[in-house]
Amino acid sequence: VIDPDRQAANRLVDLVAASARAPAIVEAIDDLPRDVEVAAICAPSGIHVDLAAACIAAGKHTLVEKPLDVRLSRARDLLAADARARAAGLTVSVVSQHRFDPASVRARELIAAGELGRVAGASSTLSWWRSQGYYDSAEWRGSWALDGGGVVMNQGIHSVDLLVWLLGRPVEVVAATGLLAHKRIEVEDTAAVIVTFDSGAIATFHATTAAYPGLGTRLVVTGDRGSLSIWNDEMEYLHVRGAAASEAGGMGGGANQIEVSKSPSGADATTSQIGHTRQYRDFCRAIRSRTPAGVTVEDAVLSLATVQAIYAAAASGRRVAVSDVLRGDYDDIHPVYGEP
Ligand SMILES: NC(=O)c1ccc[n+]([C@@H]2O[C@H](COP(=O)([O-])OP(=O)(O)OC[C@H]3O[C@@H](n4cnc5c(N)ncnc54)[C@H](O)[C@@H]3O)[C@@H](O)[C@H]2O)c1
Repeated sequence: VIDPDRQAANRLVDLVAASARAPAIVEAIDDLPRDVEVAAICAPSGIHVDLAAACIAAGKHTLVEKPLDVRLSRARDLLAADARARAAGLTVSVVSQHRFDPASVRARELIAAGELGRVAGASSTLSWWRSQGYYDSAEWRGSWALDGGGVVMNQGIHSVDLLVWLLGRPVEVVAATGLLAHKRIEVEDTAAVIVTFDSGAIATFHATTAAYPGLGTRLVVTGDRGSLSIWNDEMEYLHVRGAAASEAGGMGGGANQIEVSKSPSGADATTSQIGHTRQYRDFCRAIRSRTPAGVTVEDAVLSLATVQAIYAAAASGRRVAVSDVLRGDYDDIHPVYGEP
């Protein structure tokens, strides 16, 4: 465990029965023993790429916590480091554990197989609660420099990533964001977004950490042959029109609904470890089989670019093309808020 906060390091060492303790940072990575094969970067978001590059240079397979970093310029540095890693036989991936939820996997398979028909769009909501104490608990939280944004970058990037994974290439974004219910932070706690996709699909995304006491996340995907809803990571509703459907002229139809979940558990999936377990298994599989990990650095760059497009759109009040963001036209542009 490498952490400049010795108490934090010791807590984690005790928890995972790790054998090494080191005070800090990039130099300590160089000194890691050879039998440490994998590095997991769990430090504040704004230093992910620095640490990942050091781990790759030290010959470690590297799994970076989300978001990959907070700036696209730095994400491009990781793309370059990832290319060097691949040449050296190393695997690099970025945490996006909700891609491994059985409900997300099933949704992707259904969409790919055309089971939902023409997918017109999606609506994604993240209605969570983060107290003022949460933001006050560490200096980096709620700062543009190290958190890289508020509810969209920190919590909502999961929802953005799922939208992109399920609906395909994002093309354009419009957005409004605000700092409405928290103090002493620089970033948004609420956002409303519209994303259009290469396929023509249109999605909305509403995210807030000002929803007391914390309701949950919901993703609804709608197509002209079927629709689904994922509530707190579990499939709560799935309806696919049967081949011999008699509802062609109707306005609804529930006769062939094939799934309604019993009772999805837990409002805030942040504390569940099951997604991480699934992704760590995938990461080990990728290392052993020398095949790509389920989440590539390119995947994470596209999700980060979509988040950056949201900030650029909110700051300018205009539509922002994700391709322009990827090209570097909007690096470091974000809204500025006064205290609520
Ligand atoms: N995938 C998920 O669902 C998920 C959930 C929570 C957090 N995260 C991500 O994990 C990261 C950490 O978040 P957190 O809530 O655990 O933060 P935290 O503040 O609780 O922990 C961060 C730790 O990093 C240490 N640190 C600071 N600088 C360091 C350095 N240079 N080298 C090594 N360690 C350093 C700090 O001392 C602290 O112990 C963030 O990027 C966050 O986005 C992801």
